[in-house]
Amino acid sequence: PRPILLTRHGESKDNVRGRIGGDTAVSDRGEVYGKKLANFVEKRLKSERAASIWTSTLQRTILTASPIVGFPKIQWRALDEINAGVCDGMTYEEIKKNMPEEYEARKKDKLRYRYPRGESYLDVIQRLEPVIIELERQRAPVVVISHQAVLRALYAYFADRPLREIPHIEVPLHTIIEIQMGVTGVQEKRYKLMD
Ligand code: G3H
Repeated sequence: PRPILLTRHGESKDNVRGRIGGDTAVSDRGEVYGKKLANFVEKRLKSERAASIWTSTLQRTILTASPIVGFPKIQWRALDEINAGVCDGMTYEEIKKNMPEEYEARKKDKLRYRYPRGESYLDVIQRLEPVIIELERQRAPVVVISHQAVLRALYAYFADRPLREIPHIEVPLHTIIEIQMGVTGVQEKRYKLMD
């Protein structure tokens, strides 16, 4: 059985400031995570010549992948974070204060709520379909470096979790979720590389 390794990008400058969306670089801590991840991947996939590293098109995932050498890297727009539309770059506090109806609507139905001029979780789930097809087709291990909302959806697919849970699944920073698909079903391991 071949593993799929799922991880968020290392902490970004916007994570530190509590801002959603955007396309900032990683923080110093995020950079440290990239190095730890590279170490882990190089050990874990040492003899796996055909393994590949998939990122989104956003800086924070590309920078997190950059210390990993020896494997091909592929950028997928479909792995980009949920598009927060008019709320891109805001903090949750700002959304609550300036757009209370939007804040409440999202709280009521986070799965279906679509940011104005942006996406809903259902939209994200739909755009991930080609990624999932390609992941299923791969025979070699894949490391997916993406974002919280996207990884919630991918994880739910492999772990067979119901749709309604997806927006609430915990996908912590600086942690690798390893999925093994074998004949007896799916097995999962988690590696927390740092806080
Ligand atoms: O920036 C977006 C977050 O990663 C998604 O978090 O859907 O819980 O607001 P949320």
